[in-house]
Amino acid sequence: MSALFDAVPDAVSVHEVSPRDGLQNEAATVPTARKLRLIEALVAAGLRRIEVTSFVSPRWVPQLADADDVARLVPRREGVVYSALCPNAKGLERALASGIEEIGVFVSASETHNLKNVNKTVQATLEGFRHVIAPAVAAGLRVRGYVSTVWGCPYEGAIDPRRALEIAQELRAQGCYQISLGDTIGVGTPRQTHDLVRMFLSEMPNAEVALHLHDTRGTALANALVGLELGIRTLDASVGGLGGCPYAPGAAGNLATEDLVFMLHGMGIATDIDLDKLWEAGKVAEAVVGRELPGKVHRAGVRSLSA
Ligand code: HMG
Ligand code: MG
Repeated sequence: MSALFDAVPDAVSVHEVSPRDGLQNEAATVPTARKLRLIEALVAAGLRRIEVTSFVSPRWVPQLADADDVARLVPRREGVVYSALCPNAKGLERALASGIEEIGVFVSASETHNLKNVNKTVQATLEGFRHVIAPAVAAGLRVRGYVSTVWGCPYEGAIDPRRALEIAQELRAQGCYQISLGDTIGVGTPRQTHDLVRMFLSEMPNAEVALHLHDTRGTALANALVGLELGIRTLDASVGGLGGCPYAPGAAGNLATEDLVFMLHGMGIATDIDLDKLWEAGKVAEAVVGRELPGKVHRAGVRSLSA
């Protein structure tokens, strides 16, 4: 029998989502220049995969109505990959015009959540992606796929994990390089995460699965650790714990990037991120939205007993 932590990796890739998942849920719309200040601070902290906006309808998500400007103006740096959510062909057109290098398509494992989020059934959404994923790949973009509400839905409750797996397989078949599994409303607990992640990793290579955990009920870090033990190597996170989903009532921020990185570095797992600078980026995020953020390390500071 293997010992606890035997299987954790040497290095983890963090997919930062605060400028998108964080800011999409803010009551007040943040001016473009402040968004760019946050993105600058994230790059300075060493983040190399940053989801900066969404090419969605500005009527549905007015907070990200400046997506074209944000994607065009982000600081281009060697090794930094920017991405943006993209629901349809119109979104892809905008993505291609902006020069962004990656898009994310998103679909829910729950019919009701999907209808509320994108006004289409799951099947129609997947069919619509034929006009997004393959053309994007052909144009040289990387495409990431999100499956939302995998751990549970705010409207339907429990979700059949086999349906989530079927959807993930369809996204891969259409050309997504990685599937990010969303605990959209933060209801997951470690045993459930164990069973879900085991099921996905028995059907898909580790590198093609990421976890996108909202910390609504304080279980995101525990679920992330279970994922790491089972072979997950990519985790989504949001600086300061900024975030939510406008079409998932009660959804709180993502797993805070500082909390994740504090745990990873403390366990000897490399990330290429400078935790002190990341903490500073959290302060920038706080100034940008003008309210206190919930992240634990964000509030307590990065100092550890060995420092
Ligand atoms: P719709 O109203 O059904 O769209 O919205 P439509 O195709 O009927 O078009 C209506 C109008 O919108 C038209 O304009 C289109 O041109 C325009 P009009 O002719 O009336 O002037 N339109 C667009 N404009 C700009 N960009 C576009 C676009 N598409 C259509 N791409 C739609 C359908 C998908 C557009 C809408 O429902 C939408 O934008 N939804 C986005 C919802 C969203 O962003 N949710 C949050 C992200 S998902 C999430 O947070 C979960 C995640 O974090 C993972 C997790 O936590 O689990 C990823
Ligand atoms: Mg999310």
